[in-house]
Amino acid sequence: MADDELRAITWEGDHVRLIDQTRLPGELVMLDIDEVDPLVDAIARLAVRGAPALGAAGALGVVVALRQAEREGWDDATRDAAITRVRDARPTAINLAWGVDRVLAQLPHGTEAVLADALALIREDEEANRALGRAGADWIQQRIPDRPIRVLTHCNTGMLATTAWGTALGIVRELATRDAIELVYVDETRPLLQGARLTAWELAEEGIAHRVQVDGAAASTILRGMVDVAIIGADRIAANGDTANKIGSVGVALACADAGVPFLVAAPASTVDPATRSGEEIEIEERAAEEVTFFASDRTAPEASPAFNPAFDVTPARLISAIVTEVGAETPAELAARLDAALTVPA
Ligand code: MRU
Repeated sequence: MADDELRAITWEGDHVRLIDQTRLPGELVMLDIDEVDPLVDAIARLAVRGAPALGAAGALGVVVALRQAEREGWDDATRDAAITRVRDARPTAINLAWGVDRVLAQLPHGTEAVLADALALIREDEEANRALGRAGADWIQQRIPDRPIRVLTHCNTGMLATTAWGTALGIVRELATRDAIELVYVDETRPLLQGARLTAWELAEEGIAHRVQVDGAAASTILRGMVDVAIIGADRIAANGDTANKIGSVGVALACADAGVPFLVAAPASTVDPATRSGEEIEIEERAAEEVTFFASDRTAPEASPAFNPAFDVTPARLISAIVTEVGAETPAELAARLDAALTVPA
């Protein structure tokens, strides 16, 4: 990717720069942040979002906290509490905690060493996305070699959700460079509309053919034979392959299983959490009722009606055809066996 290309999150000498994703597609607004409180707020209100981008936000968030601590003379307890607030800003995507923990290992070597590792993490995420994009496109074209592909995707997994290129949308972009996309069905992704606002914006910018559909249309589109493959991203992949992703993903997977349509999960290896044994152990973020009971600023549900607003669901491994990481495309059972072998200490 050229250096002048737009990125969701970067380090600009002495501060973090984010695209404020709450303002898209209407306005492209950048946020410059050099303090912990506005960074935690940006994560919580989804100005920066998507698991790999949250990994970068966590890593750079440690740098922001260390620099603010130096500027303002914080003691270690205040500094550590600030880092913990970054780490805990959202619970489901493992990448946020992973990004914080990874760069914190450099703390004994000083703030510059922490920054260097955060920048390395960002470079590695782009490389991983490009590699998994190729692996996913290969997997699909091995099964459908002779015609352009009709894809369904849910939520946003593109440049905006990562440090560059994208995961599920990275596979779509790779297929597009091979002239192998017929159409992408973009689930609008209620309640915050990451599909309609963000994925559609990215696909329009790339000139990739797409249609935005309401989430409730997905199962029907799949059962009517209009989709060759569904591709989603992930916020956390458990050791057994169970996958947490944006609410509505498991419904897509169930429809695919019934229709015999492949269901792919695409994510960098940083989203795989060997310490989470199954989906039951994944904490599902619940967000404010107003996201459901209002549409923009208009109340749509009666004032007396409470809401249930889980931001994610878990797709069981049995519904997943393949999990595509930079390591390659694996069935959930192959992934589980590989993780198991890596954890097994030779006698
Ligand atoms: O609540 P969000 O917008 O952060 O949810 C994002 C998703 O569910 C994505 O599908 C996932 O993080 C993968 S992003 C490459």
